[in-house]
Amino acid sequence: MRDNLGFIASLRNRYGPLVEITLQPGTRTLIVQDPDLIRSMLTDLAPGLDKGRFFEKMGQLLGDSVVTAAGQEHVRKRRQLQPAFGRSEIARYVDIMRGETITAVDSWVPDRELDVREAMVKLSLDMLAKTVFGGSLDEATFRRLRADLSVVMNGVGARVMLPDWVEKLPLPFNRRFTAARDAVRATIDQAVTELQESGRDSGDMLSLLLRATDEETGRPLTGHQISSEILTLAVAGTETIASVLSWALYEIARDGEIREQVLDELDSVLGESPLSSEDLSRLPFLDRVIRETLRLHHTGWLVTRRTVTETRLGEWTVPAGTELAYCQHALHRDPAFFPDPLTFDPDRWLDDTQAAAFAPAYLPFGAGKHKCIGDRFALTELVTAVATIVRRVRFDVPQDMAVRPVARATVRPGTLLMTVRQRGGSAERRQG
Ligand code: HEM
Repeated sequence: MRDNLGFIASLRNRYGPLVEITLQPGTRTLIVQDPDLIRSMLTDLAPGLDKGRFFEKMGQLLGDSVVTAAGQEHVRKRRQLQPAFGRSEIARYVDIMRGETITAVDSWVPDRELDVREAMVKLSLDMLAKTVFGGSLDEATFRRLRADLSVVMNGVGARVMLPDWVEKLPLPFNRRFTAARDAVRATIDQAVTELQESGRDSGDMLSLLLRATDEETGRPLTGHQISSEILTLAVAGTETIASVLSWALYEIARDGEIREQVLDELDSVLGESPLSSEDLSRLPFLDRVIRETLRLHHTGWLVTRRTVTETRLGEWTVPAGTELAYCQHALHRDPAFFPDPLTFDPDRWLDDTQAAAFAPAYLPFGAGKHKCIGDRFALTELVTAVATIVRRVRFDVPQDMAVRPVARATVRPGTLLMTVRQRGGSAERRQG
């Protein structure tokens, strides 16, 4: 618990493709380290595996959802959510994402230090909440939801690692978590009820889920089902984005050349215009910056599955009831797959042949049937927010500042304070 990330990373140096560790007494947990075995677990073996401890815990804490479901139930839930993540839906979201980013940047005080991670959690939640709820939550409710969700996010990560009995202790740590989780659920439940009663189609994800029906019964989803899905989406799609955005801004601030290259590209592609959905595929350097951030600073530290029956994994026979887990953060930093892995180098992705060679060990959004449903949504948010922020402000970061990754529900920067500077010259007047 003191250095959970360091512990998992250290296994790579010392052990082979599969390592048994004890997370929960009485349960065998195998850390899968080899990329081919990881892919096999995520793809070929996926239909026969449960999702394992991490997701089961999420289900207990947040309710059943596409993230926690396995088998046919997962297929059904995934189908219900899929339309919200279609290409054309996401193109519609770019203006909302840009607008929320501009509002955030305008709220930062020039020449003052900003807690960048905290600002990115707020921004990610604003972007997600606006696209999911279409503005049907008022400002005060947004603020409450943000504060509560941040408590839930920190609590989910810790609880996955702790034995179940710890949750039952009457500690402030537990009471705070339960109160925040219940408050988030109540807020979402209330938004669902209001929409149901008004019969209004707000054209957002909430309306879409209200129209979805259960394939087996033909009945609409209940308010509880909808709130579980949305609660889980908010958890899956907020902290992850916030962490990657924070790291991307940090890397850009640290390296003047990278920053100039990002700005030059934005200048030549966008001129004085605001970024639109058509521009997203026309920014190859920014794309490489994001890709490299997702490599070096991946947010995933333990993705789990569980064998239901005795299962063959590579040359091993794994007994039923075994937890399997892999750590993207450690995999993406393994020198066996990425030369000079701790160096942030967007140009390692420049050469297609080299990029293809990295592919087997590069799993930013996972693989197989549980691959991130929000991958395109996430990349759109990341490019839109980074482009909009760097066009409007510059961050100063002390050269000697060491930012430590910490593993909670996601791997994120411990503390990241940077000074906001207004950009000089004509570029400052651009629209973002
Ligand atoms: C940089 C940001 C993100 C990263 C790195 C990321 C990563 C991942 C990964 C690795 C998985 C697969 C987990 C597994 O194998 O079980 C996953 C699943 C998922 N993600 Fe993301 N994600 C991100 C953003 C988002 C966003 C923005 C949303 C939604 C708005 C989202 C929603 C989901 C959902 C619902 C699943 C479960 C899919 C399923 O089991 O069918 N994610 N994500």
